Amino acid sequence: MRVTLALASLFSALVCASPAPAYPGYKVIWSDSFPGNPGDKPNTSKWNIITDVRTNGEVQTYTKSNKNLQISGGDTVQLVPRKSAKGAWTSARIESKKAFTPANGKITMFEATIRFGDTPAAHKQGIWPAFWMMGDAVHHGTPWPRCGELDIMETVNGLPTAYGTTHCGNGEKGGPCNEPNGRGAGVALPDYGWHTWTLQIDRTPSGWKSEVIRWLKDGKVFHQVSGADIGDQGIWGTLAHSPMFMILNVAVGGSWPGSPNGATTDSYGSMMEVEYVAVFRST
Ligand SMILES: *[C@@H]1O[C@H](CO)[C@@H](O)[C@H](O)[C@H]1NC(C)=O
Repeated sequence: MRVTLALASLFSALVCASPAPAYPGYKVIWSDSFPGNPGDKPNTSKWNIITDVRTNGEVQTYTKSNKNLQISGGDTVQLVPRKSAKGAWTSARIESKKAFTPANGKITMFEATIRFGDTPAAHKQGIWPAFWMMGDAVHHGTPWPRCGELDIMETVNGLPTAYGTTHCGNGEKGGPCNEPNGRGAGVALPDYGWHTWTLQIDRTPSGWKSEVIRWLKDGKVFHQVSGADIGDQGIWGTLAHSPMFMILNVAVGGSWPGSPNGATTDSYGSMMEVEYVAVFRST
């Protein structure tokens, strides 16, 4: 019941969403609402602009060009896949400089408001936008998936479903996060307009088994995983007790969506646009 009430108030706050909304019972501990002029880079005090990653067999090269990554001038950031005359794809990926550790006894929420370019799915084969997190341990020698991964929202090929997923474990097939697929769930995404995507790490219950990670679209839970579901205290700790950094990217091609094809179109119609990213902690 407590959860239901909290979600109801969360949802009503979203109706008049503004950058980093003020949710009753939460304070904002970090946010970016992407101010600036058209063509600016996002604030590099807050974000690393990533150019050297391609871990899922994707075909894009991430660049720092403002053709791929720019402040819109309307308080948003746009990640825009582009195809060269020769058919080479470029795109963008940014990662928060800060990592955030979910505090014991609190609910920590990671949230972004996102929309997609309006090119229809018939022209989005291979386009793979995502808002997700990885354990900061990956920066300090811990391999994936042991570092922990929380995919807050991913969608492929312009299809009308978004997914929330977690990856974890020691690299074994299966395991607590059902690798290699991960432990995930889909939610209907019948349009490309603005939606709010939230991940809550709820450490208010006493005892790690009762702690819960929840995935929400527009304030409604569509997936959750508890400590008991994971069943291993050390692995649960990599997901719910450890510093995580946030990632926004638009991959092109790769193991999940498959390659782009001749009908796949680039530019703003295939972009991901983000209005704000914020981290909240319950008071
Ligand atoms: C960039 O981020 C830093 C660190 O959060 C902040 O102090 C600064 O005001 C930001 N700059 C702009 C132009 O928003």
